[in-house]
Amino acid sequence: MKIGIISAMREEMQELLHELQNVRVHHKGKRDYYEGILFGKEVVLVFSRWGKVASAVTTTQLINDFELDEIIFTGVAGALNAELNIGDIVIGKTLFQHDMDASPLYPKFEIPLLNQQGFETVSNQHLIDATKDFLNNFTQLIPTEKAATFKIIRPKMIKGTILSGDQFISSKEKIESLLKQIPQADCVEMEGAAIAQVCFEYNIPFSIIRIISDKAMDNSHIDFQKFADEIASHYAKAILKNYFSQI
Ligand code: ADE
Repeated sequence: MKIGIISAMREEMQELLHELQNVRVHHKGKRDYYEGILFGKEVVLVFSRWGKVASAVTTTQLINDFELDEIIFTGVAGALNAELNIGDIVIGKTLFQHDMDASPLYPKFEIPLLNQQGFETVSNQHLIDATKDFLNNFTQLIPTEKAATFKIIRPKMIKGTILSGDQFISSKEKIESLLKQIPQADCVEMEGAAIAQVCFEYNIPFSIIRIISDKAMDNSHIDFQKFADEIASHYAKAILKNYFSQI
């Protein structure tokens, strides 16, 4: 069993890279693919860089060059759902490419020739249980002062709808426009639905964990990188450690 793990930025998987053993690095197309053993399981870690194209080519290379049984994305996202706070977790259920619009030839958001608007992930109960377990032990796993820096008090998890597009969202107007079009949207990022499309086309099970780093408002860029490094990569380490112990 071999698992591909993707993040957009090195910071989001920094802690996973620290834990990786027997590392072999494969350099392809300006990316490093880190093959090795993570918490007893064979994995390939790669950070794709930002955006739909970068993440789609990375995923394609990963699938074609390493014999993978599943792909997991882990990273940060901006909240669209007003109930979500910084530090909460969205496990993706449905993913849309919010900037796909081939209307009037195809309905808005529909991917031409694939005949579908959103991509569904596999229902990964082990990943949900692993996330719940992490949240139940949150205070032991995330240093209190780090959580306090980002005002994370009692984070929660939802299974939800993720929007992806080649835009960093940082205005109320843009949030309102996205929610008007896809009211069930929970968070926004720049890679997930592109990776979901590639996994769909290659028939590889795909799961995605997004940790809310900002509220997609005017100040969304401020804490972003620091959050990915100091919080999100620690979440990823703890959740995947739990997950790997179950599968
Ligand atoms: N990733 C994290 N925050 C984001 C935002 N506000 N817009 C797009 N991608 C993001």
